[in-house]
Amino acid sequence: MRVLLVGGGGREHALAWKLRQSPHCHALYAAPGNAGIAQIAECVPINPKAIPELVQFARQHAIDLVVVGPESPLIAGLADALQEAGIPCFGPTRAAAQLEGSKAFAKQVMAQVNAPTAPFAVFEDADAARAYLRERFATQPCVVKADGEALGKGVFVCDTLGDALDAVEFLMEHEGLGAAGKHIVIEDRLQGRELSLLCLTDGERALPMPPVRDYKRALDGNRGPNTGGMGCYTPLPDATPALIETALQTIVSPVIQAMAQRGTPYRGVLYAGLMVQDEQPYTLEFNCRFGDPETQALMPLLQDDLLTLAYRAATGALEDGSLVFEARAAVCVVLASGGYPGEYRAGLPIEGLDAAAQTPNTLIFHAGTRAENGRILTSGGRVLNIVGLGDTLETARQNAYRAVEQIHFEGMHYRRDIGESVL
Ligand code: AMP
Ligand code: GLY
Repeated sequence: MRVLLVGGGGREHALAWKLRQSPHCHALYAAPGNAGIAQIAECVPINPKAIPELVQFARQHAIDLVVVGPESPLIAGLADALQEAGIPCFGPTRAAAQLEGSKAFAKQVMAQVNAPTAPFAVFEDADAARAYLRERFATQPCVVKADGEALGKGVFVCDTLGDALDAVEFLMEHEGLGAAGKHIVIEDRLQGRELSLLCLTDGERALPMPPVRDYKRALDGNRGPNTGGMGCYTPLPDATPALIETALQTIVSPVIQAMAQRGTPYRGVLYAGLMVQDEQPYTLEFNCRFGDPETQALMPLLQDDLLTLAYRAATGALEDGSLVFEARAAVCVVLASGGYPGEYRAGLPIEGLDAAAQTPNTLIFHAGTRAENGRILTSGGRVLNIVGLGDTLETARQNAYRAVEQIHFEGMHYRRDIGESVL
């Protein structure tokens, strides 16, 4: 099969690495890829949002399967455009991607099937939202969310009524996130521990991957600003098989069935962000794609052929059964540019990659990197993902940090506590 992978971050490097191992992978292109992906695939300079260009490239290069990493092209209809061109796409259509593209839509689907999620209300009027908040905060705190696509910036977890009213003003009156905040969702604030549950689905069957925990805050001890993700680990000692089964039975399967019944079957990866409160899983959000950095921890443990699975999911032909993952642990540490998630410099040379690559039981996935004159330079906020593998979380963690210590670029920062709190 000839494969086009859309995206150019650490998630896509991990996907490319795994797709490449398939005996069915005869050609692998990445749009746009990065310096790490370029070592195993042919990178083509097409923006992931440039849908007509992607479709044209896929046609011209006789692509058999397009695998989409990021959400934006899916929410914008890349899968639909490929479908029209007769090219299978791993990733949902625009209508199905609304599970991520509209938080109000996701909540309505969950309500329809009684999937556990925080009680909520949807608003398009700021005064009505404020009135609801005043009443609700009398008994309990709320979370204010922009309905639309907001690149992780649309959620305001509020401690006080004042914070929540400010969020309404920012989203609805100042249009701080543009059209994304025209409608908002207000929901009760849940308490507990979070986990990411990624399921492969062909629109009918849902095959879960091991749960992963990611770290969204920039600094150790979950302090500092929110980021795209600073690391993650799997498996989770606190996520029992019974808990995951409950999440599948009460959330993932009913939602996938509801999407099929609507005539908009969901194919690809359905990523459920869950909160476990009183040992019950509740959905915080859905993503319509693989997680980043969750994928970097999961792909090294996946024993099945990703290309076959992705093709079957894309064409509605997954087999019953379960995915096979190695019973080992993986810890992923993200190396970020100085200043990230705020402003940062790019173009800085990265030292020590070869030495780090020699560290046993580790893998290095590139995120924001580019090659120039034989050197690897930084080119993004999240630069590299170092994955340590081991029989236990402790050894996986040691392996990851051993490789991290080999790598250096000016201003580099990373969290030192990934996988620590569970040990
Ligand atoms: P989201 O972008 O929807 O994943 O939200 C980002 C983060 O906000 C989540 O990972 C949670 O930490 C937090 N969050 C979202 N919804 C809630 C909620 N209802 N209760 C508590 N925390 C929440
Ligand atoms: N790790 C969070 C995400 O992929 O959205």
